[in-house]
Amino acid sequence: MSKIKTIVNSWNEWDPLKHVIVGKADGTCIPAPEPALDAKVPEDSDMRGQFGPRTKDTVDKANQLLDNFSNILIKRGIKVDRPDPINFNQKTSTPDWEADTMFGCMPPRDVLLTVGNEILEATMSYRCRWFEYLCYRPLLKKYYDDDPNMKHESAPKPRLTDADYRKDYLSDKIGIQKRLKWTEDKFFVTTEEEPLFDAADVLRFGKDLVVQHGFTTNLKGIDWLKRHYKDHRVHAVNFPGDPYPIHIDATFTPIKEGLIINNPQRKLPKEQRKLFENNGWEIIDSAQPAHNEPPPLCYSSTWLSMNVLVLDPKTVCVEKSEVYQADQLDRLGMEVIPVDMRDAYAFGGGLHCCTADVYREGELKDYFP
Ligand code: ARG
Repeated sequence: MSKIKTIVNSWNEWDPLKHVIVGKADGTCIPAPEPALDAKVPEDSDMRGQFGPRTKDTVDKANQLLDNFSNILIKRGIKVDRPDPINFNQKTSTPDWEADTMFGCMPPRDVLLTVGNEILEATMSYRCRWFEYLCYRPLLKKYYDDDPNMKHESAPKPRLTDADYRKDYLSDKIGIQKRLKWTEDKFFVTTEEEPLFDAADVLRFGKDLVVQHGFTTNLKGIDWLKRHYKDHRVHAVNFPGDPYPIHIDATFTPIKEGLIINNPQRKLPKEQRKLFENNGWEIIDSAQPAHNEPPPLCYSSTWLSMNVLVLDPKTVCVEKSEVYQADQLDRLGMEVIPVDMRDAYAFGGGLHCCTADVYREGELKDYFP
């Protein structure tokens, strides 16, 4: 009798990684303007006002880095799967909206949330990313077919009408001070029209899921996650100090049981630290980024320095040029694997973003009893 094989299993961000999806840069577009996006592209960004496919040179370079990263993981015994890019340079629509281009499939972390034996497709909150799940369907179909315990779920597709976005955010020049005030007041571009969340706003700590309330995830989205993950405790967190709060993984990064690095410009408020500190966890300031500017045509900030991929509680992948972050993790007793990824940042993020967990060893644990 053949033994049932568990393909999908991952309960946290640090247990030994055995199987992972690494994104691809093929055909990535700078998305056309849309309400969700206008508010999120930094005001001084070189991307404002332009859209369409990224150049072949930059795509080739990013793919080369993603392939190399995959090979590093494979050499360490980790199985790597890759998505199937679709033609992102096409118009998409639903009865509610039209978008001129899609985005890409370099950051699977944004779309797929693995909790235990389940992979959940997030609602997403940009129109240009509404169909991105299609790139992962061939893999999800395979996991589903091969693992009788695997659960493939999809959160309710949002309508993303104009009612989902606050008009206040649609001006070109809001200014950083006002943005910071709005973040502090938890006044974000997305309204509470319907549940919205991106998978990259969620961090997994066994029984507890920590979710950033910000531009890409609203309170209704967090409530939806609460109702969905019945056996978990779901905590909303927010980080004053981030004028563009999108995805938690350049802000708050668990390294292993008991240790989190936190962006010193985006500190977790005192009240919200209790969950961790009352359970003996340490939250320390992350090291400074090595760069003063993100690379050209990049959505993310220089804090992708913290966007590390933990391979097991002793081993972590850090971007090659991020020497301060590498040094800090080294001093914390981690083996640091330098990985060249900076020239792929513009395609949607760093080492954590460009991956999504399929299998990590270990079981569901309660770290905050
Ligand atoms: N908002 C973050 C920053 O610029 C970038 C997060 C990217 N994460 C991701 N999963 N795509 O600091």
